[in-house]
Amino acid sequence: MTPQELVMCALDAQKHAYAPYSGFRVGAALLTKSGRVYLGCNIENKSFSPTVCAERVALFKAVSEGETDFEAIAVVGCGRDGAYQPFCTPCGVCRQAFAEFCAPDFKIFFGDDALACEAHTLSELLPYAFSMGEPTG
Ligand code: THU
Repeated sequence: MTPQELVMCALDAQKHAYAPYSGFRVGAALLTKSGRVYLGCNIENKSFSPTVCAERVALFKAVSEGETDFEAIAVVGCGRDGAYQPFCTPCGVCRQAFAEFCAPDFKIFFGDDALACEAHTLSELLPYAFSMGEPTG
């Protein structure tokens, strides 16, 4: 699967975003090493703190189905005006959640509706992730 194809999956996932409070709709597509794709969207809540990011929805769907080997994730996001954010980057909490399951070379694509996909690795986005052992810088 190409990065652009994974961004297209993230755009599909974004269609289900539930974001009536922020108006910021996010979609994520998580590719396993076995080639399966898990989709996630952000799901907000009127009580705010139960809100879950698109990336963690995709990750937890996958883990809950027994998947723990991950290759890459594509993320897209846009506000109420429909303009895609050029760098829709996973929040810090999502980065730490990835660090639990993904290797430092796990790829993260910042996508948009033009199928741009700037690529980074987890270790670039989260150097020195919390771990109870050695630092993972
Ligand atoms: N959001 C995500 O889905 N992923 C992120 O990495 C950051 C933020 C969502 C949460 C909330 O529904 C909206 O974007 C605005 O913060």
